[in-house]
Amino acid sequence: MATILRDWSYRYQWLYDGISRIAALSVGGESRFRRLALQDLSINQDTKILDLCCGSGQATQFLVKYSQSVTGLDASPLSLRRAQQNVPQAEYVEAFAEKMPFPDNYFEIVHTSVAMHEMEPQQRRQIFQQVYRVLKPGGIFTMVDFHRPTNLLFWPGFAVFLWLFETETSWQLIESDVPAVLSEIGFEVSRHALYAGGSLQVIQAKK
Ligand SMILES: C[S@@+](CC[C@H](N)C(=O)[O-])C[C@H]1O[C@@H](n2cnc3c(N)ncnc32)[C@H](O)[C@@H]1O
Repeated sequence: MATILRDWSYRYQWLYDGISRIAALSVGGESRFRRLALQDLSINQDTKILDLCCGSGQATQFLVKYSQSVTGLDASPLSLRRAQQNVPQAEYVEAFAEKMPFPDNYFEIVHTSVAMHEMEPQQRRQIFQQVYRVLKPGGIFTMVDFHRPTNLLFWPGFAVFLWLFETETSWQLIESDVPAVLSEIGFEVSRHALYAGGSLQVIQAKK
């Protein structure tokens, strides 16, 4: 699955960002989209935030408006170079999310935006366990990613999007019950909201 457009969207940041902006129109625009998972959280300038799988800093640029202690982690050196250029206010770490090089109980918030659909189910569970480990007790994990549309009208556009840009792991994500997996790991899921005809899910879960 996926087409050449997937490779191009990773190679050319303008294409990735343009597509994200168009997709974000379904929830009222990019600015609203990037803040959906942060609603009602208490964040100040010293709140230690991790942007997990930060890409080129697409969510990081919003996180640095809330806190001066933001770290972006990604496995791609190219994305990290771009993130460093785009959002120099954050610190960056090159690593795999399933093997995060941070101490236990370190962050107050771990945020991940449209990245968990790239993981195999077992890998995603391993990443959630790592998130649990690096969060402080009482810390919050926030995630925004695809979900199985609940409104039939959203299915055609959603399916075409996945076919053009995504791989099998996106279909696996929408088949899985993420809040249930998080609860099994020990999180207390405090929010699970659906947007864009159910095709987008926002989760907040407390350690
Ligand atoms: C679709 S992009 C999301 C970028 C950004 N968070 C956003 O909101 O647009 C997914 C990112 O996850 C990164 N990634 C994929 N697998 C990873 C892994 N196992 N560990 C760390 N980063 C990973 C990719 O390099 C890519 O930058």
